[in-house]
Amino acid sequence: MIEKEKIKVIIDTDPGQDDAAAIMLALGSPELDVLGLTVVAGNVPLNLTTRNALMVCELSGRLDIKVFSGAKGPMTGPQVTAEHAHGKSGLDGPDIFEPSIQLEPQYAPDFIVETLLNERSKTVTLCPIGPLTNVALALEKNPTIATHIDKIVLMGGGYFAQGNITPSAEFNIFADPEAAKIVFSCGAPIVMMPLDVTHKVLTTRARIQQLASIGNPASEALVKMLTFYSRYNSKKFGNDGGPLHDPTTIAWLINPDLFKGKKCNVEIEIKSDLTRGSTVIDWWEVTNRPKNALVINEVDSDGFFELLTERVSNLK
Ligand code: RIB
Ligand code: CA
Repeated sequence: MIEKEKIKVIIDTDPGQDDAAAIMLALGSPELDVLGLTVVAGNVPLNLTTRNALMVCELSGRLDIKVFSGAKGPMTGPQVTAEHAHGKSGLDGPDIFEPSIQLEPQYAPDFIVETLLNERSKTVTLCPIGPLTNVALALEKNPTIATHIDKIVLMGGGYFAQGNITPSAEFNIFADPEAAKIVFSCGAPIVMMPLDVTHKVLTTRARIQQLASIGNPASEALVKMLTFYSRYNSKKFGNDGGPLHDPTTIAWLINPDLFKGKKCNVEIEIKSDLTRGSTVIDWWEVTNRPKNALVINEVDSDGFFELLTERVSNLK
């Protein structure tokens, strides 16, 4: 039987408890070849998101993973962080430790450009699950990489679900709207996981219990992370558990049949004071604007958590 080629992926991340779940899902999945983690400022400042990314690799028993640090803040405009949701460390829940694995010296946007030019064209997927600054800087540095990208599978934006950091904007887009505009207009195939779908994957007590039954270092830390993370989100949204945003991108790569959506035009509002950072999704096709993204709005949430639990249990 011919073995299916692994999916080569670069995860661009701002850990964040939900980022940690995404990274663990990826590292526990044999279908993926994680070429590197590129880190961006987002939930917390860059020094902390960088430390957190290294920590998650160590908790996952994957000291081989290359981690690159990138943009300290947005391309323009003020820096926005989300300690209110993720805690001061950005990874509140488990004991925080200084990781033993070393950061790679190369600047993250340079690693993205170099990898896309060196790997066979259209064989590398970018999975941005934080503000899009690193990806936009890479595209600005060398616009031709857009034709080398297989696809961009990103968490960000919202339509029927509106926003979570302002009434109309989701955090990853709001944190750097100019970067989002560059990414959504670069021409590479985009799969978008907006709040419309991520609000359907809630970290309920039963699902956290499932993860707790695994009993490896990664799951033990993840359970503490998600218990902390759920507290804030349950209070805010009144649900049992919080939306586990970021791993939806990795789950889609592994099993797209868990999801449903449709191709739409997506534009980014960058000018309005009131709605800056909102994703204007032409879901009802009332314009002739190009359909630049597959926008996902449905998910088999039980299947998603079964996949997450099964793959985290693969970690040593
Ligand atoms: O709005 C949710 C997104 O913002 C997630 O990626 C979360 O980690 C934060 O970065
Ligand atoms: Ca994130």
